[in-house]
Amino acid sequence: MDAIRIFDTTLRDGEQSPGFSMNTEEKIRMAQQLASLGVDVIEAGFPIASQGDLEAVKTVAREVRGARIAALARAKREDVDAAIEALQPAESPRLHVFLATSDLHLKAKLNISRQQALEAIGSMIRLGRQHVGEVEFSAEDASRSDLKFLCQVCKVAIDAGATVLNLPDTVGYAVPEEYAAMFTEVRDYLGDPQGVTFSAHCHNDLGMAVANSLAAVRAGARQIECTINGIGERAGNASLEEVVVALAVRQSSFGLKTNVRLAELFASSRMLSEITGVHVPPNKAVVGANAFAHEAGIHQDGIIKNPLTYEIISPQAVGVPARSLVLGKHSGRNALRDLVAIAHEVMRRKSAAIAATAPSATPFPA
Ligand code: KIV
Ligand code: ZN
Repeated sequence: MDAIRIFDTTLRDGEQSPGFSMNTEEKIRMAQQLASLGVDVIEAGFPIASQGDLEAVKTVAREVRGARIAALARAKREDVDAAIEALQPAESPRLHVFLATSDLHLKAKLNISRQQALEAIGSMIRLGRQHVGEVEFSAEDASRSDLKFLCQVCKVAIDAGATVLNLPDTVGYAVPEEYAAMFTEVRDYLGDPQGVTFSAHCHNDLGMAVANSLAAVRAGARQIECTINGIGERAGNASLEEVVVALAVRQSSFGLKTNVRLAELFASSRMLSEITGVHVPPNKAVVGANAFAHEAGIHQDGIIKNPLTYEIISPQAVGVPARSLVLGKHSGRNALRDLVAIAHEVMRRKSAAIAATAPSATPFPA
């Protein structure tokens, strides 16, 4: 079965959003957990941003094993040099070069022509390839770029040595059919080149980051860039836990697997909350406190009879210790009876355990 590579950018796109900054020690802890989770690539940071960022990426590159380590760089020599330095101790490094390709960004933000953009992309990827075995290129704002120009950009990137082509929906503007069509068009233009992986990177401004990522997969993308708890710029990035659980639960529809250990999802989510102090909303898919909690009587009755009635995956499968039947104004008699029976059984077992370990009775001294 074909595999989707999971590129985690919690420590870069996630960390650069307000309220989520982490120090080096916290980044290491999180990166170790991401490696245990089984992500394929950990984007550890943006080394040119500061000396501290460079050192943090270098430390992750030195200490974390079991996942490829990526570092981000604009298509500028000083960025590429900083990223190369930071990646130096990595076992499997990836240089991630990006440049905006929409006319809006080229004119308003960068003030360069399309031709200048093509030259910067080609020369910086070639420079990167002299030092790092794997180079990814991202066409920032791809979903609002002129498609013909985007195709040209991708051709230049591949010819210069990039083996991963990322087409981001940087501002969360795309809808699934449109985002998928962009991948189809670029892949067709390039003749579906061997040895090149297409990647989706979606922001959640319209709440469609996961849907868009999965649409890209249907159009041939084989890497998804995402973050734990969906943290990231503005409304966030595609949520890693939602992407991987969707691919697992709907495997018969997608016919694809990931290397992620689903049972580590809850621990990863909680570790990020603990480090950043930002709680996960209770209704968050997969890892929210209510994801496996049932209060309505009809639902509780169904869950007691067969959990599949109202759960599409078991809590244990994603590392949540247990489901909960919450007693509230919507609960029914069946759940109440069941909970009383469970409480009774727990008390009985506790009493039996205490009795078994208690010292045998000694007579009072005379
Ligand atoms: O959203 C985006 O376009 C990015 C790129 C730098 C990959 O984060
Ligand atoms: Zn992004």
